[in-house]
Amino acid sequence: MTSWVNQVFCEDALTGLARIPDGSVDLILTDPPYNLGKDYGNASDQQTVDAYLAWTEQWIDAALPKLKANGSLYIFLTWRFSPEIFVMLKKRMTMMNEIIWDRRVPSMGGSVRSYSSVHDTIGFFVNRKDYYFDLDAVRIPYDAATKKARSRSIFIGAKWLEVGYNPKDLWSVSRLHREHPERADHPTQKPLEIIERMIKASCPPGGVVLDPFMGSGTTALAAQRCERNFVGFELNPDYCAIIESRLAAPKLEPTRKAAKRKSAATAVATEEQA
Ligand SMILES: C[S@@+](CC[C@H](N)C(=O)[O-])C[C@H]1O[C@@H](n2cnc3c(N)ncnc32)[C@H](O)[C@@H]1O
Repeated sequence: MTSWVNQVFCEDALTGLARIPDGSVDLILTDPPYNLGKDYGNASDQQTVDAYLAWTEQWIDAALPKLKANGSLYIFLTWRFSPEIFVMLKKRMTMMNEIIWDRRVPSMGGSVRSYSSVHDTIGFFVNRKDYYFDLDAVRIPYDAATKKARSRSIFIGAKWLEVGYNPKDLWSVSRLHREHPERADHPTQKPLEIIERMIKASCPPGGVVLDPFMGSGTTALAAQRCERNFVGFELNPDYCAIIESRLAAPKLEPTRKAAKRKSAATAVATEEQA
């Protein structure tokens, strides 16, 4: 494999993207700063609206050429800037879905002059009609009660009952609580369950997933667990250290085949190593 694969470079994505040859990644899966004022140890989430949108357009234009012709992109956003950013992307790609991630926030407190926001907005975009998409890899099994209810003769041999149903565009997955075994020291870490679903559906086994904004490295870890390759960037050296330890010692039960995979293929590269 080439030198940029299975590396998270501790550097600005805008610089680092130049390392990746055009047309070489299967999936861009990213969770950029939302510009809500969070402290990532840098000012990326604390920009003026104009600067944020201009910067977003800049990294989108640097990242999209890296995608293969049949590649896809998932982007996490919030309602605050998803309208503008979806328009930017719709000028460049075809939008397939707006996925709502219901973070399963408990009903306590919240806004008193508006409705409490409890979801993130995810855009799913593709380059062209014959994009890679493996629905069978992400089907959801029917529960025993449903299967029993469909046990009449007209359902016997019904393949859909055995293979499960396709995920809808509303994903209810709890955010990571402080005590959650997956939890790392990053303020906006995403659950592996969500990222792994996207990777299984939209990146072929052995393919490459690019995340320009790795944070705690969830995309890299999910790719490793799903037997895909990864590449990405993270500005904050403390988060780079978290990524390194998550990749070196995946704490959670790996997915079936990933257990056999050698961890030697993974590394977090510093500027010196790169
Ligand atoms: C929303 S967080 C990503 C969280 C990640 N999905 C996870 O599960 O941990 C965005 C990350 O982008 C990083 N970042 C911001 N600007 C960057 C840039 N220009 N290049 C690389 N990383 C950047 C921030 O430091 C932050 O950790």
